[in-house]
Amino acid sequence: MANITRDFFIGLSNNRFLNTQAKKWGFSLGADKFVAGTTVDSVMEAVKALNRQGISCTLDNLGEFVSDKREASEAKDNIMTLLNTIYKENVDCHLSVKLTQLGLDIDQAYCIENMREILAKASQYDIFVNIDMEDYSHYDQTLEVLDALRNDYDHVGIVIQSYLYRAEDDMAKLKDVRVRIVKGAYKESEEVAYPDKQAIDRNFLKLAKQRLLGDTFTSIGTHDHHIIHELQAFVDENHIDRDKFEFQMLYGFRNDMQNNLAHEGYHVCTYIPFGDDWFGYFMRRLAERPQNMNLVLKDTFYT
Ligand code: FDA
Repeated sequence: MANITRDFFIGLSNNRFLNTQAKKWGFSLGADKFVAGTTVDSVMEAVKALNRQGISCTLDNLGEFVSDKREASEAKDNIMTLLNTIYKENVDCHLSVKLTQLGLDIDQAYCIENMREILAKASQYDIFVNIDMEDYSHYDQTLEVLDALRNDYDHVGIVIQSYLYRAEDDMAKLKDVRVRIVKGAYKESEEVAYPDKQAIDRNFLKLAKQRLLGDTFTSIGTHDHHIIHELQAFVDENHIDRDKFEFQMLYGFRNDMQNNLAHEGYHVCTYIPFGDDWFGYFMRRLAERPQNMNLVLKDTFYT
């Protein structure tokens, strides 16, 4: 049953018609639980509130699967504006971007050019930019784009998904690159990804421990308290400096745990999505955890 629900929501998240229509609906279906508004002003309020609690942020100006240059160029311009705002407001905040929003499906060279513009501005402001990892059909291209960008920029990082069999090999090639480790949010075939949760969790722990023993900064992107507790113990046992890693969680998820970790002296970073292209992101969150649906229904119909 859980798999059917998951497949249903993942199917919706990939539906381009619904993704386009949802932009016209405005915010609905309770998406505001997990998406911090549609404007830069609204998201800045959320960033400042989290910063006051000692939590840094990474902003995702939502958008993906863009298929025409006008839209990709608009997305890039919005991200440039966002960089200006982060700098001007002097908030503790970096960026997360999706390459399909910046034209990866149109032309890889064009996407790289857009990323170069973003990274040039971000480097001027000393703002880090992380490239989210999308579904497996974009995986090799995403690593190629990163490789091209790393020739000129070092304030750019990537995501490793522990559900992929090849995650460990790819991570080994990214020794000097700042990486966010996550479990993986897309529906992938058993040919490329572990189908069962226990194997994905085991691999997550293995990858995270390898990185924690290395020298490069790592973001641990999970809400899973089993994994977080095991890694806290590992860090203590191995006397690992807390400045070498952070816990990252999504906006609207486990706020108490985010606050507690920050109070205990860990670096915590909240991933905040915002903007009108919220549908795909929101459906993937419902796919991950049916309880998220209960939360949304409760707020939509009982309050
Ligand atoms: P999972 O959903 O497996 O939950 C494990 C256990 O934790 C649950 O059984 C429950 O006990 C507990 N739990 C989880 N959520 C809870 C909640 N809200 N309340 C109470 N208990 C809860 N994916 C991707 O493919 N590419 C990407 O670039 C990113 N980026 C990204 C950034 C950040 C900051 C995060 C946190 C996640 C991503 N992801 C992602 C998504 C990621 O791949 C994954 O799908 C989700 O994080 C869900 O997996 P979890 O590790 O959170 O635990």
